[in-house]
Amino acid sequence: MHNHFQRAEILLDALPFIKSFRGSKIVIKYGGSAQIEPRLREQFAKDITMMYMLGIQPIIVHGGGKRITSVLEQMGVESEFIDGHRVTSKECMEVVEMVLSGEINKEIAYFLSLNGIQALGMSGKDSLLFEAKCKEGGKFGLTGEIKSANPQVLEKLLEVGITPVISPVCGDSSGASYNVNADIVACEVAKALKADKVIFLTDTLGVLGKNGELLESIKASEVEDLIQNGVISGGMIPKIRSCVDCLESGVKKVHIIDGRVEHSLLLELFTSDGVGSEIVLC
Ligand SMILES: Nc1ncnc2c1ncn2[C@@H]1O[C@H](COP(=O)(O)OP(=O)(O)OP(=O)(O)O)[C@@H](O)[C@H]1O
Ligand SMILES: [Mg+2]
Repeated sequence: MHNHFQRAEILLDALPFIKSFRGSKIVIKYGGSAQIEPRLREQFAKDITMMYMLGIQPIIVHGGGKRITSVLEQMGVESEFIDGHRVTSKECMEVVEMVLSGEINKEIAYFLSLNGIQALGMSGKDSLLFEAKCKEGGKFGLTGEIKSANPQVLEKLLEVGITPVISPVCGDSSGASYNVNADIVACEVAKALKADKVIFLTDTLGVLGKNGELLESIKASEVEDLIQNGVISGGMIPKIRSCVDCLESGVKKVHIIDGRVEHSLLLELFTSDGVGSEIVLC
């Protein structure tokens, strides 16, 4: 147990971080892989509340890959992935939208609201936040890519102190829905809002090297080689490419951290202990 002095010291250690982040916009990508345990979900909500109360503007983008796969399994539909991107049939898209926008999005917004912040769940379709189209001409079915962003609604919500919680389902002018990888949506949100920092919470220590070791710092220039050599594969491909895209578009700091570790968000933000991987330009 800490004595009073140690407790005060821990709080004071956070002071420089609190000062530097006050007023900043931080996009949190809450990976489906990190949403598994109910206790972790509650802690996530507490961490976001803490950020908000300390003067940060958090913007949450969530995934839900594991839950989508499990619902599809229950329906007897097998999931197919190419380079970490789900191939989305029309039938699968209905499940994707139900799970992401109907279930997970509302759950996260509700948890945050229960913790005392005003959170509002929405998808990329609401207020035409993002317009999407088929990725690579339809090779992935209704898996989409972002065509254009319309971030005014997010700016208005942030202005009045509301925390947006965004499901990565996006639409187009014909009324179709697209399943866009949530890492890509997080990156587009960060670019559109000129965010200061993006943190990807996932289910690994961070980015792992060829012997399974944690790569604490990765240069953007090394990323494509790591993908070509098979060190980075599956769902980590869109994540790390989104990190590079964010950095090249002016976001100052990008981290991939372990969402399975209790309060990893707070540790990343308010302590000098590095958690996970940082991707840096050069
Ligand atoms: N080099 C690597 N380091 C770490 N993880 C890797 C690496 N290469 C591939 N992966 C895989 O990437 C996965 C993380 O991406 P995944 O898409 O599954 O999760 P997520 O993006 O957090 O969740 P969601 O897609 O539901 O939002 C890890 O669980 C791991 O299996
Ligand atoms: Mg993913």
